[in-house]
Amino acid sequence: MNFEIFELERNQSLFENKVDFNLSESGVHPLKLSEILTIEEQKEILDLELYYGCTNGTPGLRERVSEMYCDKISNDNILITSGSAEANFLSILTQLNYGDEIIYMVPNYLQIAHLSRSLGIKVNYLPLRQELNWQWNIDDLKKMVTSKTKMIVICNPNNPTGSIMENEVFDTVVSIAKDKNLWILSDEVYRGSELNGVECRSFAGATNRSIVNGGLSKAYSLPGLRIGWTIGPENYIQKAWSLHDYTVISIAFLSDWISCRILEKNRRKKILRRTKEHLNRNLKIIEKWSMDIPELSFTTPQAAAISFAKLNDPILSEDFVFSLRDKKSVLLTAGKWHGLEGYIRIGYGSPEDYVKSGLRRIKDFLSEK
Ligand SMILES: Cc1ncc(COP(=O)(O)O)c(C=O)c1O
Repeated sequence: MNFEIFELERNQSLFENKVDFNLSESGVHPLKLSEILTIEEQKEILDLELYYGCTNGTPGLRERVSEMYCDKISNDNILITSGSAEANFLSILTQLNYGDEIIYMVPNYLQIAHLSRSLGIKVNYLPLRQELNWQWNIDDLKKMVTSKTKMIVICNPNNPTGSIMENEVFDTVVSIAKDKNLWILSDEVYRGSELNGVECRSFAGATNRSIVNGGLSKAYSLPGLRIGWTIGPENYIQKAWSLHDYTVISIAFLSDWISCRILEKNRRKKILRRTKEHLNRNLKIIEKWSMDIPELSFTTPQAAAISFAKLNDPILSEDFVFSLRDKKSVLLTAGKWHGLEGYIRIGYGSPEDYVKSGLRRIKDFLSEK
């Protein structure tokens, strides 16, 4: 089978550890275990016997995850996965077949688009509109639904724009999905990273055919734990769990143990508070910096550590990103890799000084062009 290259991840994998300034990340600078576990817990970890654990996630962890969603979501609606990347993989492979059609939000992370196309699923791209503050136009959505549509695929909060779906659009998606009996697949890995500190609405439980994928890599600043989850109706969870027997069998025992503890209500809130404060502080830095950068136009994000900027010069996004990388050792992501040419994404989740130094290099690059 020929799989499309996942350009975004491939470029990050190849260069993120080689450049001086990696501003291609979309999450907040990672936490250390010493910052999130008590001294007793740190000692306890050393004495744990490293079992496989529960292959669908321990009941304790699934309970913690269920607490983040509405009352309709219980342990039986949750499968713990190796990152939200595995959750997305399982959702597509269990729910879609060769020849199916999906409506897909762009710009996006594109994992689901590349994977679906590789499997012979037709991806109908529905763009968010910048003039609507990166929202879907409801009429565009209504027109795109046909008798062949099987699923509406969303990324909310959105990567790469950092926008959050407005209520009117959210309600329209739910009503169309109910009316036409469509699946909703909502990648919500950035939920919890809202700049105003208010967790956005989740599609979990919104219809009896809603799947929500999330995880600890972004808002919770713990990508190295590789913890994600998929949420949906019980029969879907059973299918996804069976497929998970083939992908990773079980997530890492230690990651389950740690997540179970740090998702306890007060610790979870504390981590999200840190995220909010960090994002708001760094957003000011990038906003100040962007004031005298006529080559780029910015829209203020509502969530996540990312700013999606329009290139005002006629240059391809990939050429811009490669040239910046080679001349100044700064890595960004190209709009092309997100499904929208003419833009670049700048990640500002790293420590303040690091972000400032990276931005300084971008400015130098632009002034030398
Ligand atoms: C929208 C989206 N979904 C999923 C992922 C995968 O994240 P992880 O597997 O670390 O949870 C990413 C990573 O950048 C992402 O941006």
